[in-house]
Amino acid sequence: MKNIVILISGRGSNMEAIVRAGLPARVAAVISNRADAEGLKFAAQSGLPVEVVDEREFSSRGAFDAALEAAIERHSPDLVALAGFMRILGGDFVRHYSGRVVNIHPSLLPAFPGLHTHRRALQEGVKLHGCTVHFVTPQVDHGPIIAQAAISVRAVDTEATLAARVLQQEHRVYPLAIRWFVEGRLAVENGIVRVDAPGARQALLVEE
Ligand code: GRF
Repeated sequence: MKNIVILISGRGSNMEAIVRAGLPARVAAVISNRADAEGLKFAAQSGLPVEVVDEREFSSRGAFDAALEAAIERHSPDLVALAGFMRILGGDFVRHYSGRVVNIHPSLLPAFPGLHTHRRALQEGVKLHGCTVHFVTPQVDHGPIIAQAAISVRAVDTEATLAARVLQQEHRVYPLAIRWFVEGRLAVENGIVRVDAPGARQALLVEE
């Protein structure tokens, strides 16, 4: 069975969705860069190994990345899943895990990388919004796209309602993308991900 190490910084609802999905893989550890990350409670209650690599204890990004990598390596990861991990990882770290680290982002990339994606989507008046699971590259919120789910933006939507509906889709699509990874259904050619899974296209349809 493949080992997944999940990195969180806060609420951890995507981590929870991955754990609850009953994937054919072992969640080997949940690691946070913040001791007060709310999601650590669920992880500990679920009996998962939990580690904190407190970013405040390190004077440089390099030192933090090295400590994080050491913590991850203790759990022999086949896949590292960033789930609301609010820390930009250094190029060396990302290259070390190239093809083995994925992220979920609350927009239809390449639109709206970075923060405040729902607010920006409303400001731009986009009619479709959503979330993206992608392989991580040194460029933030960029990398081969594994899965996306779209929702239509309604006239009555606020930042909060959009965030809630996108989050529902995140909880559906992130475990699915990880399932494809652990089942060996993903191939990356020239930066494009090919998914060999029944129903893969239908799984990403737009919610009205
Ligand atoms: C999610 O919206 C995710 O897309 C983004 O950060 C948020 C984390 O939420 N990267 P949670 O901690 O998984 O609840």
